[in-house]
Amino acid sequence: MLNGKRILLIVGGGIAAFKSLDLIRRLREQGASVTPVLTRAAQEFVTPLSVSALAAEKVYLDLFDLTDEAEMGHIELSRAADLVVVAPATADLMAKMANGHADDLASTLLMATDKRVLVAPAMNVRMWEHPATKRNTATLVKDGLLFAGPVEGSMACGEFGPGRMSEPHEIMEDIERALSNGPLKGRHIVVTSGPTHEPIDPVRYIANRSSGAQGSAIARALAALGADVTFVTGPATVAPPDGVRVIPVETAAEMLDAVKGALPAKAAVFAAAVADWRMETASDSKIKKDANGAPKLKFAENPDILATVAHLKSGRPGLVVGFAAETDDVVANASAKLARKGCDWIVANDVRPETGIMGGSENAVTLVTADGAEDWPRMSKDQVAAKLADRIAATLSGQ
Ligand code: C5P
Repeated sequence: MLNGKRILLIVGGGIAAFKSLDLIRRLREQGASVTPVLTRAAQEFVTPLSVSALAAEKVYLDLFDLTDEAEMGHIELSRAADLVVVAPATADLMAKMANGHADDLASTLLMATDKRVLVAPAMNVRMWEHPATKRNTATLVKDGLLFAGPVEGSMACGEFGPGRMSEPHEIMEDIERALSNGPLKGRHIVVTSGPTHEPIDPVRYIANRSSGAQGSAIARALAALGADVTFVTGPATVAPPDGVRVIPVETAAEMLDAVKGALPAKAAVFAAAVADWRMETASDSKIKKDANGAPKLKFAENPDILATVAHLKSGRPGLVVGFAAETDDVVANASAKLARKGCDWIVANDVRPETGIMGGSENAVTLVTADGAEDWPRMSKDQVAAKLADRIAATLSGQ
């Protein structure tokens, strides 16, 4: 339920604007109040009258409307809400937000607000994949905005692909998460996930088989408890969850930089399968086959991100959790790793091929802490994530 929550809903000008009417209906059904703002272009797709009727509130349209400013100035309007939702967020609106434009009511409110902003992008697939939109999205993620979608699907323009706005029921879940009063509300937690790719030359790289499934599930479970999650992910096959700040990286060095840049945090969970080695010097040009035979690759050791953060003299997160994928003597190896890496907990799992855990949907883990080892029964990766998130919440509540 969203009883008493106030949502400032900014509707951008795209065909998906019709879905914002359903979103308003759902928000009100859940007990939230909705103050709608329509951009000029949005008014071409939905009428102020229908939006205002559904919201049972005045709809705001113009920056320089003296009546509105007399009733509630734009600064106050931007701050009276518990959450600002932009749905649909067009490519243009995202560009304005990313670049700090404030030339109409919607963009000015977005600049002036001191509340969290949840963005539900909606645009043609080419526009979503355009480098400018990618840059703007990365900027907005870095600025701490939350994203709901977009999803893949057929579009009003007849094309198919990512860029379609999430359905109102999905956006509702993201809104509930953003407003959650869970036990981790207001706690910043960093999660690493996925493999890393270490370039050999511009076309080849060293990688591993991590899907990123367990890391994604952990980030989702922490966010569901209200945590403010920064999700630093290598090139995983599983999509990152909604409602977290995603920082995509390729290499271990980039992952370390991103994690350091994301601190301080109350806790950090290192679920990434970081490559142990990179090329000492990656080649700038493609290595060619020649008469000298196979190239000799010279490796250098990658930084250990978990150990680096766990050994920080200042700014160390209060709880540092590592993973250990082992094929034998799981508990003994995990306990040794706990000491060597300097972390507080190790989530150890048996990744012998016959267990089907690596790349599968289930996991059987042992939680190793200073107090000893605790075997958890085999369960889905989502359940492992939920149990781990509950443990983290219980531990942080005492700090
Ligand atoms: O040493 P090993 O790779 O088994 O350790 C696994 C744990 O250490 C995982 O939590 C992994 O995310 C983390 N790790 C890391 N940076 C590395 C290697 C591992 O953060 N370079």
